Amino acid sequence: MWAGSVRAALSRAPGSRRAHSALAQLRGILEEQLEGIRGAGTWKSERVITSRQGPRIHVDGVSEGILNFCANNYLGLSSHPEVIQAGLQALEEFGAGLSSVRFICGTQSIHKDLEAKIARFHQREDAVLYPSCFDANTGLFEALLTPEDAVLSDELNHASIIDGIRLCKAHKYRYRHLDMADLETKLQEAQKHRLRLVATDGAFSMDGDIAPLQEICHLASRYGGYTTGPGPLVSLLRQRARPYLFSNSLPPAVVGCASKALDLLMESNAIVQSMAAKTQRFRSKMEAAGFTISGASHPICPVMLGDARLASCMADDMLKRGIFVIGFSYPVVPQGKARIRVQISAVHTEEDIDRCVEAFAEVGRLHGALP
Ligand SMILES: Cc1ncc(COP(=O)(O)O)c(C=O)c1O
Repeated sequence: MWAGSVRAALSRAPGSRRAHSALAQLRGILEEQLEGIRGAGTWKSERVITSRQGPRIHVDGVSEGILNFCANNYLGLSSHPEVIQAGLQALEEFGAGLSSVRFICGTQSIHKDLEAKIARFHQREDAVLYPSCFDANTGLFEALLTPEDAVLSDELNHASIIDGIRLCKAHKYRYRHLDMADLETKLQEAQKHRLRLVATDGAFSMDGDIAPLQEICHLASRYGGYTTGPGPLVSLLRQRARPYLFSNSLPPAVVGCASKALDLLMESNAIVQSMAAKTQRFRSKMEAAGFTISGASHPICPVMLGDARLASCMADDMLKRGIFVIGFSYPVVPQGKARIRVQISAVHTEEDIDRCVEAFAEVGRLHGALP
């Protein structure tokens, strides 16, 4: 109803009395919602970082350097000198701007090179670049599925998969998290549809656990009837995926950096091994200290706390001890399952890991989260 009021308000002279009262009404509705979020303890504030990304960062308002333990920088490449150099070179050679979407004049040779490199990395026929994973997931389902089809989705899939599925007109089935028996039941129910697509994250980013892809493929081959080739799939996405068709191509500097990051990964296994060893160190020390860490061996290490306010207060106290972590609460994770998601990076040192565990133990005791 208020959308109508606002539209009406905006169409009137800004100074009119009715426009003022419509805007006051909107303000009241918004304030009420914001108060509800604050009251539930799920308010997400944004700390401002004033330095490069990396294991050590500077945070606005905090005088000393801080150890960052909540970045997606698992491989430690976000400030790697060769990656930065590759970005600068692409900027020089190909410019800063995006001149259009891909099919008009937004495809430069570096976009094609990176797509070929990604396909090689994953041993696939082709790959399609999007500005973000969110775009990739929102573009996929609508392009592929019709009302005759069905999609079966893990209940804890990332929001981008959920939103992508919402945008398509296929029938929707939700199976319990990683539960293969439930997936099989839902696959049996879905036999009546033309195509059945099982959608799952590989690694679940809030829980640090990993989908049993082999079992899912096995079930899909028993109930799926047939699989389509990835080559035509990529071609279809280039023709039909709305984020690909209607959003400008990736800026050259980003393409240059991503391409170099893939080169570094393909050159040697050292980065991945270092990340795995540090993850193991963190997980085992935290569990020995009495914390519950969700997931298995993934560098996403969610410290499970339950209460949203507890997670948020503990994260604030971690910052006072020089460790940057964030409390995650609803709607990012289910109600009552608040946590602090720690993310380990290949560029953390063993001392960094130990400092983080010590700070957690101290703060956990302070807040009664540990015996
Ligand atoms: C599992 C998962 N999927 C998708 C995304 C969205 O990625 P992007 O920032 O590329 O849109 C994220 C974000 O971190 C994620 O964790």
